[in-house]
Amino acid sequence: MQKQYRVGIIGATGMVGQRFVTLLEDHPVFRPAALLASARSAGKPYAEAVGAKWAMSSPIPAYAREMPVWDAEADADRLQGLVDFVFCAVNMKKEDIKALEERYAKLEIPVVSNNSAHRATPDVPMVIPEINAAHLAVIEAQKRRLGTKRGFIAVKSNCSLQSYVPLLHPLKRFGIKYAAVTTYQAISGAGKTFETMPQIVDNVIPYIGGEEQKSEQEPLKIWGEVANGTIVNAAGPVITSQCLRVPVSDGHTAAVFVSFEKKPTKEEILAAWRTYAGEPQALALPSAPKQFIHYMEEDDRPQPRLDRMLENGMAICAGRLREDCLFDYKFIGLSHNTLRGAAGGAVLLAELLAAKGYFD
Ligand SMILES: NC(=O)c1ccc[n+]([C@@H]2O[C@H](COP(=O)([O-])OP(=O)(O)OC[C@H]3O[C@@H](n4cnc5c(N)ncnc54)[C@H](OP(=O)(O)O)[C@@H]3O)[C@@H](O)[C@H]2O)c1
Repeated sequence: MQKQYRVGIIGATGMVGQRFVTLLEDHPVFRPAALLASARSAGKPYAEAVGAKWAMSSPIPAYAREMPVWDAEADADRLQGLVDFVFCAVNMKKEDIKALEERYAKLEIPVVSNNSAHRATPDVPMVIPEINAAHLAVIEAQKRRLGTKRGFIAVKSNCSLQSYVPLLHPLKRFGIKYAAVTTYQAISGAGKTFETMPQIVDNVIPYIGGEEQKSEQEPLKIWGEVANGTIVNAAGPVITSQCLRVPVSDGHTAAVFVSFEKKPTKEEILAAWRTYAGEPQALALPSAPKQFIHYMEEDDRPQPRLDRMLENGMAICAGRLREDCLFDYKFIGLSHNTLRGAAGGAVLLAELLAAKGYFD
């Protein structure tokens, strides 16, 4: 029988936290052992604390309904010895998140984070498991800095770029010169539903604070290299982006233009996507999509409503690959922002960490 791990979920009442609660219901190796949120929710049974904020299409899992919610700040010390690691997805000030995550790491509780606070920290790996699993090597240096034996922080990247970086990555062998990307981002990415964000109906909001910078900069860390205990960012390719909020519940779409040093044929690009696989596929991790990238031949695909749940929301969809008059090619990407882009991506990262012994 496979080893089981006890898991804490910090921010369990939030949009991403609810996904964790749902995804871990039948997980083969992760057992939810503690649910944590702010002092506002602490002391209440989970179903009462989450109340009308529950935004998943399935009901609150039975295991979670009566679990007491703990205060992530005041009860941190109580968690020691009760969980093997925590997921963290909270809505707090950046400095407070940094401090909270380091506190858990120093309590020897590894943190797998959805938050952006530590994404730029040079010895914190920011991992899309299919792309840069090798960055986990930097954890040893981070543990030395923190003075811990098993506590560390690992993060996943921003959700927007998961709709195009996985599609650009297999094409790096052709020498990407630059790319221009516009993302059409779902409201769940802001922790919202149509009820809580009525201003998005019949509308597009052309600004998402900080998102364009993340969309342009985070890929350079993902494509960086581990050297002397830190991750040294890649120098390129240059990506320019615009990020729009659109009236879609789940699923971020990206319209991508790209130019290469050595322009591939369309068939070479399709073959690179079709054959690309990473460590999650090689290790057959429980949440890994069997096929990482799915190319759709129909002119009107991928679409969020039809395609975001492909392979349980963990696959990356591509479509409409064609030559362009300014760049070499253009295409469309799509990924589920709270599954692949948030909770699902973090669960996959945790599965990779578990498979490599980081929680033992
Ligand atoms: N939504 C996405 O698609 C997405 C994707 C990638 C990354 N993220 C990131 O994930 C994080 C959470 O996003 P979200 O959309 O899930 O936000 P959310 O729906 O607003 O949920 C926020 C959570 O943080 C908790 N919280 C707030 N203040 C706290 C405190 N002082 N101590 C402990 N817990 C506290 C809340 O608990 P209470 O209910 O008790 O207030 C709630 O559980 C953010 O950093 C976001 O940038 C989100």
